[in-house]
Amino acid sequence: MPAVTTRTAPLTEPNWYRHLPAGRDVHLLHEGVVAVTGNDAVHQILAHPAVVAEHPLKASSRALGPNVLDADGPQHRAFRALLAPVLSAGRIDDYARTLMPRLIDDLTEELAGVRTNEFDARYAHRIPYGLVCAVLGIDTALEERFHTLTRPLAQLLDYPTVETPQTHRCAAELLDLIEEQRIARDGSGTSLLETIERTRDRKAITLSDSEVRSTAVLFFIAGTETSSAYITSLVYCIGRTVFGLEELLDSEVRAHFLEEVLRLYPPVQTVVRFAAEDITLDGVTVPRHSAILASIAAANRDPRVFAYPDRLVIGRDTKRSAPFAVGAHACPGAVLAKTEFGLLTARLAERFREIAVVGDERRIESQSFSHPVDFTVHFRVK
Ligand code: HEM
Repeated sequence: MPAVTTRTAPLTEPNWYRHLPAGRDVHLLHEGVVAVTGNDAVHQILAHPAVVAEHPLKASSRALGPNVLDADGPQHRAFRALLAPVLSAGRIDDYARTLMPRLIDDLTEELAGVRTNEFDARYAHRIPYGLVCAVLGIDTALEERFHTLTRPLAQLLDYPTVETPQTHRCAAELLDLIEEQRIARDGSGTSLLETIERTRDRKAITLSDSEVRSTAVLFFIAGTETSSAYITSLVYCIGRTVFGLEELLDSEVRAHFLEEVLRLYPPVQTVVRFAAEDITLDGVTVPRHSAILASIAAANRDPRVFAYPDRLVIGRDTKRSAPFAVGAHACPGAVLAKTEFGLLTARLAERFREIAVVGDERRIESQSFSHPVDFTVHFRVK
């Protein structure tokens, strides 16, 4: 079956997949750029052995240096091994008992009675930044500075990439700041850099100091902006849903709700990969060296897998939803993220009588770290 060539797909728009012809899962957008949209096809391509993440022209590796997201094979496995201890079940348990409740309580108290059209800009980042700064051993007074530097880096992960002197300046400053913090805190033993340096030495992993630092920066970007985007979508969905907030006190309902928000509003809408050789998918040849845009957003709303895909349905089977991607690069922070979101949702349901979206332009922003924007939400206390 021939690929459909679509020269006008506006890739800068979130949900660009909606502009592609229906009935196909593999679309040749331009020469050397292929979009994959069906649920099954997205799963297949992300786990395909001839599909790679590394590319010499990738903006993220240019700005950050070699890092986990842009590596393959043994180097990629070495990066993942560095991260494993900070994301272990024991560490997550610790964060869930101590750090997370404090951050969640602070935010919830601040939101009491608030009516805002800036939830995404003013509130959504607080818990993720507080958490990742603590994990990295960064002085909490620097959280806002880290936020200002990290936000523009989202553009490095978009496709097509927006690469400006500002993004490079932010990346360089972030690397310096993380290094400064390491020096200031040397010896406490718990920060991410110290933990990953120890893991490297103990497991005799051959990665340079700069590769260790870029792992820390990547951890920072991946752990904060994804979660902030998700928290915005979570509040938006709570505010627009007809059932009562008290239903979210039930842990099973809560778990289903969180999964449905992840399915409908995956913060990472598109994952970019490259074909290391000619690949045949859905009867279409994806030529060697093509960029492959795997649309998680499309896979998560594939009507062949999810009946009434645009509807939030508590209790539906979400096994084929892929907000954390699949394959070698599947998100290592998924359990941490879900633990954080579960605790936050439970606390919101306890604290508030109603969370209502009272104004809504129904707009979604961005491809990497995507979420609804331009809505007003009111947190009414009990
Ligand atoms: C809603 C929350 C989150 C979502 C939706 C999410 C989603 C994703 C996705 C889709 C990828 C794969 C990207 C790719 O293959 O190009 C990824 C990778 C990654 N995520 Fe997450 N993530 C979330 C939270 C977190 C958190 C909390 C952390 C750490 C604290 C984290 C750390 C990472 C890292 C280090 C990678 C790179 C993995 C690799 O390349 O092997 N993420 N994430």
